[in-house]
Amino acid sequence: MQYRVLGASSLRLSTIGFGTWAIGGSGWQYAWGPQDDHESIAAIRHALDCGINWIDTAAVYGKGHSEEVVGRAIRGLKDKPLIATKCGRHLVSDGTVYGCLKRDNIRCEAENSLRRLGIDVIDLYQIHWPIPEEDIEEAWEEIAKLVDEGKVRYAGVSNFSVRHIERINKIHPVISNQPPYSMLHRDIEIEIIPYCAAQNIGVIVYSPLAKGLLTGAFSPERVALLPEDDHRRNDMLFSEISISSISAMLAELRPIAERYNMTYAQFSIAWILNRHTITSAIVGARKPSQIEETSSAAEYEFTAHDMAEINQIIDRHINVLK
Ligand SMILES: NC(=O)c1ccc[n+]([C@@H]2O[C@H](COP(=O)([O-])OP(=O)(O)OC[C@H]3O[C@@H](n4cnc5c(N)ncnc54)[C@H](OP(=O)(O)O)[C@@H]3O)[C@@H](O)[C@H]2O)c1
Repeated sequence: MQYRVLGASSLRLSTIGFGTWAIGGSGWQYAWGPQDDHESIAAIRHALDCGINWIDTAAVYGKGHSEEVVGRAIRGLKDKPLIATKCGRHLVSDGTVYGCLKRDNIRCEAENSLRRLGIDVIDLYQIHWPIPEEDIEEAWEEIAKLVDEGKVRYAGVSNFSVRHIERINKIHPVISNQPPYSMLHRDIEIEIIPYCAAQNIGVIVYSPLAKGLLTGAFSPERVALLPEDDHRRNDMLFSEISISSISAMLAELRPIAERYNMTYAQFSIAWILNRHTITSAIVGARKPSQIEETSSAAEYEFTAHDMAEINQIIDRHINVLK
């Protein structure tokens, strides 16, 4: 495993973080279908055995259930992983999600997260989305207070634009941003990555496997068999036409992956980590075998020539997907 320092913090993160969205389980708007908690805990423990030293979760995942499962997985461990969680997304009783960044809510969410996780301090506390936009300063001021009180070590954001970061950085330093990034979503290369590199703000990217699509394990038949409450059924990237374009891209990348003896999942993550301005990729897993495979991706390094060839192939296919 490789480790990189997160921006201006003292946190040294493994270049692969464990993502816990899917293990939140059923019963809300962005669920991934039913999930066995024992399997989730086994996956988290296996991730730690593989050298992963940090976990990303959020209060909203499974209405708090993801944080509870993380809390159970780390309880009693001598060497606890670093914990990053997020606030600012709320659920109404029917499981629908909306944004709320009012100070009282942020404080209440932080207290609930600490309790569910069974910890005294959150290593990295992030605003999940800049929604509603007009309240980002209010939420950030409250998070700065939580830092002063010792309940949070470092404050970060997620899905923030450069403009959003500039607005709040004056109030309290932004340690990290968490945007989406994968071979299918490369928008952050234009502005976010150069800006964060220049400002020494850590970049921890999410959905590096495009929710599983870049593992090559998806077909229209598999999508049709996903549980009713797996939100991927309604994601346009999981449509027949999109899967067919992604499969064509993966087929073209295959000879390069074979040269390095990599699976598609490892290849997709290695492609991200080849960019050293990215601190870590948050990889989701629902069982130990998945994280066993993906955690080794940090060990591969592409040559500059291969990277250029890979990017040409991706560019051609991404244009078709747009
Ligand atoms: N800040 C934000 O707004 C935000 C948004 C999204 C995600 N995140 C964070 O980033 C994390 C990762 O993103 P993600 O969960 O969206 O997706 P991801 O990491 O791109 O994909 C994870 C999914 O891929 C499948 N998978 C993983 N390893 C595999 C393997 N070796 N072989 C085959 N399939 C495999 C699993 O799904 P199946 O087995 O079910 O197919 C797994 O749940 C999240 O868990 C969360 O912590 C944050």
